[in-house]
Amino acid sequence: MNLDSFEQLAQRRKTVKVLAQDSLPTADCRAVVQRVIAAAGWAPFHKICSADHRVEEQFSGIEPWRFHAIDADACRNLRSHVVHREAAGKIPAMLASADAMIMATWLPNLPAGGLGTASDNESFEPTLGNVEHIAAASAAVQSLLLAATAAGFETYWSSGGVLRSRELFDLLNIPTQQRLLGAIFLFPGNVTKSDKVEIAESKLRAERRPASQWSRWVEVKQ
Ligand SMILES: Cc1cc2nc3c(=O)[nH]c(=O)nc-3n(C[C@H](O)[C@H](O)[C@H](O)COP(=O)(O)O)c2cc1C
Repeated sequence: MNLDSFEQLAQRRKTVKVLAQDSLPTADCRAVVQRVIAAAGWAPFHKICSADHRVEEQFSGIEPWRFHAIDADACRNLRSHVVHREAAGKIPAMLASADAMIMATWLPNLPAGGLGTASDNESFEPTLGNVEHIAAASAAVQSLLLAATAAGFETYWSSGGVLRSRELFDLLNIPTQQRLLGAIFLFPGNVTKSDKVEIAESKLRAERRPASQWSRWVEVKQ
């Protein structure tokens, strides 16, 4: 890897949503997705997550993020759970085509006294510790996107929509004290557009500005 190849990879990553009316055939991508997840785990993190999140062996990692991976077959099954829900939006059409979807969560430091007011799956205290946990988990998600792009998937970081709900957390067995950072869709890289398959990209991408409009060199006098 050199800077040229990293620049190519960083630019190749882009939002692609594959929206299928009917379920596409599934392929077993678990092995490669597992590698993508492991690569993402090299993201930096500043503080270990609170022990409140490490009560189960499966979730004993000190990292302030958790990735819940849903393979293609499970995506199709999940689709049938969300398709009739109000405000399901485009999520069912993406679950019909994804090779995998990863519910990426970050782990808030919990207020003294346990889970606090976490009943809505969303609340957390606005502390530096939590900002750094979000930052670290976001770094892991970006690494996930880059690794998935390198592996040949199309990717989409979704806020999650209907997948943010308490009911869906329960269905996927995600502890409700975890906070959803994104539902990360990995789509096959070779899907072609048709009457029944739409491929959408992001409108904001074209609005990107050169680095000179969001970065600067700072002069410091002796
Ligand atoms: C935290 C986060 C949440 C996002 N959620 C959504 C979303 O819910 N819907 C959507 O269309 N795009 C979502 N995006 C994707 C952005 O819209 C997209 O990255 C941006 O428009 C730039 O396009 P590009 O990824 O193709 O470069 C999200 C991105 C981030 C970082």
